Amino acid sequence: MSELNDFIDTSKVYQIVTERFEAMSDSNGKPFQKMGNSIGMNPELIELILDLYNNDEDFPFEKMQKFSIEEILNYLQATHRYYLTKKLPEIEQSLVHIFIKYGQSHQLLASLAYFFNDYKTNLIEHIRLEERDLFPYIRTLIEASKESAEAKKTALNPDFSIKKFIEAHTPIEDELEEVSKLISRYSGNDPMPLPYKIFLNQVSFLELELRKHAIIEDYVLVPMAIELEKRLN
Ligand SMILES: [Fe+2]
Ligand SMILES: [Fe+2]
Repeated sequence: MSELNDFIDTSKVYQIVTERFEAMSDSNGKPFQKMGNSIGMNPELIELILDLYNNDEDFPFEKMQKFSIEEILNYLQATHRYYLTKKLPEIEQSLVHIFIKYGQSHQLLASLAYFFNDYKTNLIEHIRLEERDLFPYIRTLIEASKESAEAKKTALNPDFSIKKFIEAHTPIEDELEEVSKLISRYSGNDPMPLPYKIFLNQVSFLELELRKHAIIEDYVLVPMAIELEKRLN
């Protein structure tokens, strides 16, 4: 599996991981205070996320469980926003560059644009479901855990099951490998033109991003939420 270092300089990793917090706000919509060079986020958690970006084999998930579920949730939510408002538009911009350079008639461009539009729809829907169902449910659990026994009971929504949600929570990053196949199918042995190279790089990076994101969702957030649900029961 490719790692971050294949795409960018390690010294930029910190910037990449932290830039998603720049527009981050708390659950009341208030922007987080910037603290020195940090961004209102636990520096130890940032450190651990950086480790995950460098290598996710044998990653010690239990180390992440010492942070509050709220911190993990805030991180994942900031990441969603980062994909929707920054990463997807950047990739689309690259497609526009390819379009300007090669024109509409280029067969590879047509395939890529078609593939990517389709992919974007799926990714947005994946994020929408998490933001609509899973995350608010977990926020309710968190709130309830701070309140009275009565409030605790009403938080447990019998119509929503974390386990069922997770069963339907399929990986969204694997399909992105299709992009490099599409490009090499058309370019054959010829060197890949630069605009396509840039596009492929951005897509490969998004693939890596989504893989790390899914690890935190599936192996950190969900077990913590199930644990919290059990405690409230
Ligand atoms: Fe997500
Ligand atoms: Fe997800």
